[in-house]
Amino acid sequence: MTKNQLTITRPDDWHLHLRDGEALTSVAPFTARQFARAIIMPNLNPPITTVIQAVAYLDEILAAVEGYDFEPLMTLYLTDNTPPEEIIAARKSCFIKGMKLYPAGATTNSDAGVTDIRLCDATLEAMQKAGLPLLIHGEATAPQIDVFDREKVFIDETLLPLTQRFPDLKIVFEHITTKEAADFVSQAGDNIAATITPQHLLLNRNALFQGGLQPHNYCLPVLKRDIHQQALLKVIRSGSNKFFLGTDSAPHSKNKKESACGCAGIFSAHAAIEIYTSIFEQQGALDKLEAFASFNGPDFYGLPRNKTTVTLHKTDWEIPNTYPLGDEKLVPFLAGQTINWKLAETAATPQ
Ligand code: NCD
Ligand code: ZN
Repeated sequence: MTKNQLTITRPDDWHLHLRDGEALTSVAPFTARQFARAIIMPNLNPPITTVIQAVAYLDEILAAVEGYDFEPLMTLYLTDNTPPEEIIAARKSCFIKGMKLYPAGATTNSDAGVTDIRLCDATLEAMQKAGLPLLIHGEATAPQIDVFDREKVFIDETLLPLTQRFPDLKIVFEHITTKEAADFVSQAGDNIAATITPQHLLLNRNALFQGGLQPHNYCLPVLKRDIHQQALLKVIRSGSNKFFLGTDSAPHSKNKKESACGCAGIFSAHAAIEIYTSIFEQQGALDKLEAFASFNGPDFYGLPRNKTTVTLHKTDWEIPNTYPLGDEKLVPFLAGQTINWKLAETAATPQ
């Protein structure tokens, strides 16, 4: 291996939005060419709340990635009314790997989300018993809370009490954005981990306003100030096994992003592993990339590490301005910018 080439165990994406219908067909191959597996978010409209619905969605995803060696890891959308029996069914299914908690109103398609986590206690008890992880969108949603404080308030008001009520519940604190979240996870037990997106490592909230309003840098949780970005970078340099790759790649059409009321979500699946590689290199932490991208996630979920590898070459390439999204277009993360690592085409790509 030279410094112009890097081979790592094939990575997985532990937080991904694939959508359905034509959008799914457009975006799924971007993920399948790099990642062996991905945790699939259930926030469709209507959401995937039952194992029966997840089977149908799994079939649709498998059709969209035909020819790729890619395994979707499905999740169910937790509601106030998810019965404990659904957890037994999820565990029996073998392909449901977690339950997703969206506080009601927190983000895209979260209207059916949980209004008060204590309403879910019987179901959380069943999850704790079954070892089925709770994947948390950790933002408090009360309208008076400042949007930049929502993660911190969620930790204090919801997450901390939750971990006290269910000390053995496996929890993934998704797409963490703050020093408070990084500290919380670092200090928690082995049953609590977190995913980190490329945008929260690469950008801070200045990127929302650089030279004018930048809708393609808008996602939820929203980008935070520099000290929080620095805290996340410190975490990845530390090599802690409690943090792993989760892109939160969330495609929306160009029209829906560039609108009077623009949607939250950044699409990064077109270059995810390449962007993470550039970030780790820039941090002098390339030796920590493989654990973050390929080991810590499966170890936490109790799944085997992948056996195949991917190779990246140090080559400049320009990210296109748009990609197709069904009949429409999407603007990818870092559109038009040059990136300095490129994934080699592999046997995972259909010929
Ligand atoms: C996600 C989406 O569009 O589905 N958007 C986002 O900004 N991340 C929802 C989510 O994960 O919050
Ligand atoms: Zn998400």
